[in-house]
Amino acid sequence: MAAPVISADRLLLFGATGDLARRMLLPSLCALDADGLLPENLRIIGTARSEMDDGEFRNMAREALEKFLPAERRGSMAHFLNRLHYQGLDATTLEGYKALAEKVGPSNSEDGDGGLAIFLSTAPSLFGPTIAGLEHAGLTGEHVRIGLEKPLGTDLESSCAINDAVAEAFSEDRIFRIDHYLGKETVQNLLALRFANILFEPIWNSNYIDHVQITVGETVGLESRVAYYDDSGAMRDMVQNHMLQLLALVAMEPPTSFDATAVRDEKVKALRALRAVAPGEVVTGQYRAGAVDGEAVPGYDDELGKDSDTETFVAIKAHVDNWRWKGVPFYMRTGKRLPERVTEIVVKFRCVPHSIFESAGAGSSAGLQPNSLVIGIQPEENITLSLMAKVPGLGVDGVRLREVPLEITMPDAFVGQHRRIAYERLLLDLINADQTLFVRRDEVEAQWQWIDAIRRVWEANDIKPKTYSAGTWGPSAAIALAERDGVTWYE
Ligand code: BG6
Repeated sequence: MAAPVISADRLLLFGATGDLARRMLLPSLCALDADGLLPENLRIIGTARSEMDDGEFRNMAREALEKFLPAERRGSMAHFLNRLHYQGLDATTLEGYKALAEKVGPSNSEDGDGGLAIFLSTAPSLFGPTIAGLEHAGLTGEHVRIGLEKPLGTDLESSCAINDAVAEAFSEDRIFRIDHYLGKETVQNLLALRFANILFEPIWNSNYIDHVQITVGETVGLESRVAYYDDSGAMRDMVQNHMLQLLALVAMEPPTSFDATAVRDEKVKALRALRAVAPGEVVTGQYRAGAVDGEAVPGYDDELGKDSDTETFVAIKAHVDNWRWKGVPFYMRTGKRLPERVTEIVVKFRCVPHSIFESAGAGSSAGLQPNSLVIGIQPEENITLSLMAKVPGLGVDGVRLREVPLEITMPDAFVGQHRRIAYERLLLDLINADQTLFVRRDEVEAQWQWIDAIRRVWEANDIKPKTYSAGTWGPSAAIALAERDGVTWYE
């Protein structure tokens, strides 16, 4: 039987001096604290290889907060910083873990039985040794849960190896695999849009939907993650996790409730229904020198300092082989050094079956277009439904039609709500042991299975990325991938 859920009173952060901790985790925790959302007795213990004391860690945290968290969200920094403690650790040897356990200390909840939440954001090679160390130090009991940050492997086999190592010490109901896209407000809003409105579900199928597009464009290049990115590439960095999760949320059947098992059961069914991609249905690219936001930027090889075959762009035509989605392609594209930072999902509906306006005007089609629903995730959070309307006027040529947007801008609809960092939601759920927005093992495995099959085809056929200029929407073959089906990428 699953252990009863207990809010954590201790949060142990591995990788506490790293980039993710400074940019995202500490700012998220401070913002949660400012909003009074953290358990009052929660202590946060950071650990990483460097040696420092609590005071030095707090100073590092203060600097990170001043840099990465807007002043109006910081609340009382002193209150937050007082929660922080630090213990240096060489994660590869068992020795230091006992001292770490002492620093973590016993639960301070009244019944002495508070939970411990661990957040692991370390190199994949450290997963195994860290789990062994935690076990050695008695930090894996039934009230301990663990959050795992990517990369969790580079293919199905290595991902299974990591999952097996973690499963030695933690049951699946205590493993929280993070995909930070699930922490984004608009991504969760997709579920609200689909399942809290009667309007969409009846037409959310191949009878009414022509195709779906999912775009995650980034203007940045390699940033500081040269080695990681070159080993990974866009397919494993973005498609395997974030984009497939978005696809699953669009494609899944209605779950019976918004609960971890029900939601994830439906997502995994959609992921398992993905058809193996044919070689002509995937295009990869790598950026060359160009201009982004009006500034000249170097090509990938130059940024990297050597030649590489790693893809920085992927476009795929995917199919979900089930009753609902028969014949509806899902076009996905993602890349670095694209013209815009944008994440959006476009649902393109079919044309009306018969247009009464068709004959209006001499030989004119009156401008009739199929409807589309655009879910903007970033940079703007908005939902736009394009509808056809009559162009005002007394034209003698008959009725003229034009697309007009019905638009909901989330910040306008919910005035006074600030935009949250995705990790705020996820850290809070880890502390409160709610797995709904975390990825279950069977989902990850279905994702890798699909990705591995594509990569095997690349390897077997020695397929190399095509080039594209930085600041463009990828190689021309990516445009052709959609255009040969009569589809235009939404821009
Ligand atoms: C990360 C990838 O998971 O997501 C990065 O490793 C990418 O390469 C990032 O830049 C994008 O996240 P977001 O939230 O900025 O869209």
